[in-house]
Amino acid sequence: MSSGETVKVGMLGMGTVGGGVAAILQRNGSLLARKTGIKLELQRVLVRDPSRRRAVDLPPQIYTTDPEMVVKDPSIDVVVELMGGIEPARTLISAALKENKFVVTANKDLMARHGQELLQLAYCYGEDIFFEASVGGGIPLIRPLKHCLVANRIERMVGIINGTTNYILTRMSLDDMDFQEALSKAQELGFAEADPSNDLEGRDAAYKLTILAGLAFDCSLNPDDLFTQGISGVTRADIHYARELGYTIKLLAVAEQMPTGLALGVHPALVPLTHPLATVYDEFNAIFIKGDLIGETMFYGRGAGALPTASAVVADIIDAAYSLQSGVKDRPSPGKSNNRKITLLPLSALSSRFYVRLQARDLPGVFGAVATAFGEEEVSLDMIIQKRKTNGMAEIVLVTHDVNEERFYRSLKRVARLPAIEPEPGVFRVLG
Ligand SMILES: NC(=O)c1ccc[n+]([C@@H]2O[C@H](COP(=O)([O-])OP(=O)(O)OC[C@H]3O[C@@H](n4cnc5c(N)ncnc54)[C@H](OP(=O)(O)O)[C@@H]3O)[C@@H](O)[C@H]2O)c1
Repeated sequence: MSSGETVKVGMLGMGTVGGGVAAILQRNGSLLARKTGIKLELQRVLVRDPSRRRAVDLPPQIYTTDPEMVVKDPSIDVVVELMGGIEPARTLISAALKENKFVVTANKDLMARHGQELLQLAYCYGEDIFFEASVGGGIPLIRPLKHCLVANRIERMVGIINGTTNYILTRMSLDDMDFQEALSKAQELGFAEADPSNDLEGRDAAYKLTILAGLAFDCSLNPDDLFTQGISGVTRADIHYARELGYTIKLLAVAEQMPTGLALGVHPALVPLTHPLATVYDEFNAIFIKGDLIGETMFYGRGAGALPTASAVVADIIDAAYSLQSGVKDRPSPGKSNNRKITLLPLSALSSRFYVRLQARDLPGVFGAVATAFGEEEVSLDMIIQKRKTNGMAEIVLVTHDVNEERFYRSLKRVARLPAIEPEPGVFRVLG
């Protein structure tokens, strides 16, 4: 194709994000053509049920249930995968690359698990895969990491990259909802799926962190190797105590380059109310990236939703069209990067402050015994409060100073052996 020509797009899936892409092409198609010199045309759309009503009305003949009508159609330049899941998305993307088509995808599960293999295949066939929408919805993150920050040695990333859990924690914090109530509200508004386990257990954030950290630290990662803790253990009491101590609770994705390797993981953490991440509310995402040259940068915006995500997909289609025009690919060749071996460190490699909520029988001397048990392992406490409850029970809430994780858990074991202490304390890291 040459400048001013039409780029024909085949879409695999027309649900939330696919509907957003179709809406953008209808609403902003001429604006896009004016700005870029490229006219995008939806040629064919794969769905399971062509009779279903869609967010945007398209001519009925555009729909198909036969994937080959998209991936093998010689007139289609760019295949956009918006089905989700691993299969058949992986097979269809591979088939499209073998048919010499550029691919755009928003599929974080697939890119986290099989991104390297698919990028390698794209390279072999002289094609490319664009995946900006797979992390952070409409927030530009992949492109800045690949281009704008490429001269930097990335030292640290920390952020909120799951909108569902952030919405739930926001409702618990600002509206005093309990976990179930906040989850129902998120489902009612479409911020949480009917089966929200991927979000709640931190897997969605782990997939996204795998993709981001792979680019930022120039290595290949497996999402199963990441420490991942979700938010189902966060109670309304934790939210209250955190606030009393000057914090809020957020699900954080953290990656830090240490001298001996890369520490990364996903976990709920107490965030100081004065930290910018504390005021990232609702379904919004934000991530800090620290480079050795630029220092700290912050990216903020809507991390999901039809139009924000589709905005990133359409930008990727335009990039694919530019690549088609110029014949220049967007990415470094595999082998030169991204296959780099890296030592993955557990999060315990990072010393941290810890928040602990203990249930105790309300007996004289318990408070002092808890403080002594921590002291015996040389874990010093920054704050400690006791709250009387009903039925002769009390809650003891404390925050440690910076401590090595191994030492911290040793001290917690000592505390757990105290006869007045009930099992299963609430424990969260505290963002430094
Ligand atoms: N939703 C978001 O806010 C968001 C944000 C960032 C990234 N993403 C990613 O974007 C992708 C799409 O998400 P979505 O929310 O748009 O999903 P969705 O609403 O569930 O839509 C999926 C679409 O794919 C079609 N489809 C699925 N399996 C198919 C199969 N085997 N054969 C034919 N068609 C099939 C469905 O057809 P029918 O309509 O006929 O059922 C539907 O149109 C996912 O990878 C997701 O992780 C989503």
